[in-house]
Amino acid sequence: MIRRAILADIPQMVQVENLCFPVPWPDFLFKAHLNNPGFVAYEEEGLVLGYAMVGDFRGKAHLQNIAVHPDFRRQGIGTELIEWCIDLVRLYGYREMVLEVREKNTGSQAFYSSNGFKVSRTVEGYYMDDNAIVMSRKIYALPLPEA
Ligand SMILES: CC(C)(COP(=O)(O)OP(=O)(O)OC[C@H]1O[C@@H](n2cnc3c(N)ncnc32)[C@H](O)[C@@H]1OP(=O)(O)O)[C@@H](O)C(=O)NCCC(=O)NCCS
Repeated sequence: MIRRAILADIPQMVQVENLCFPVPWPDFLFKAHLNNPGFVAYEEEGLVLGYAMVGDFRGKAHLQNIAVHPDFRRQGIGTELIEWCIDLVRLYGYREMVLEVREKNTGSQAFYSSNGFKVSRTVEGYYMDDNAIVMSRKIYALPLPEA
């Protein structure tokens, strides 16, 4: 189930984060985003298996974080999370989503490509230990149902 993140999720999210990233977010950064309706948890029977966070950056929807516990990958959870984020920002009227991903993180680049993102450019030295690949995808408005 995907639902809005709550304070009680954060210890589990930090555990997943620590398994996923060379420079993980600390718990206070997760806490700082609890007011964001685009911060969501993927939970099954009390276990937080993944999370995603989307916000605004210069008028575009910006995917700030997404991660799935290593033991639960390649089961479609990441895709469900990113689709949830896309549906949310579509409702807010955004027509493009952007993100940065480490140049070395080719697995996640493949994940984003499979979800409709295309490479826009490279930013040298964006991370302390790597360059960033900027990827983006259009978000189309859904037609209104006929009266
Ligand atoms: C990126 C991430 C969230 C994907 O989560 P996931 O639940 O495994 O993704 P899905 O199961 O929805 O994958 C959908 C498709 O994306 C592609 N894909 C996903 N991970 C991939 C990988 N490591 N290598 C190649 N393709 C991959 C595949 O096409 C996959 O479909 P398939 O399994 O039928 O082949 C997960 O790998 C993760 O948490 N990585 C570490 C954190 C991270 O790097 N986050 C992104 C930071 S920018």
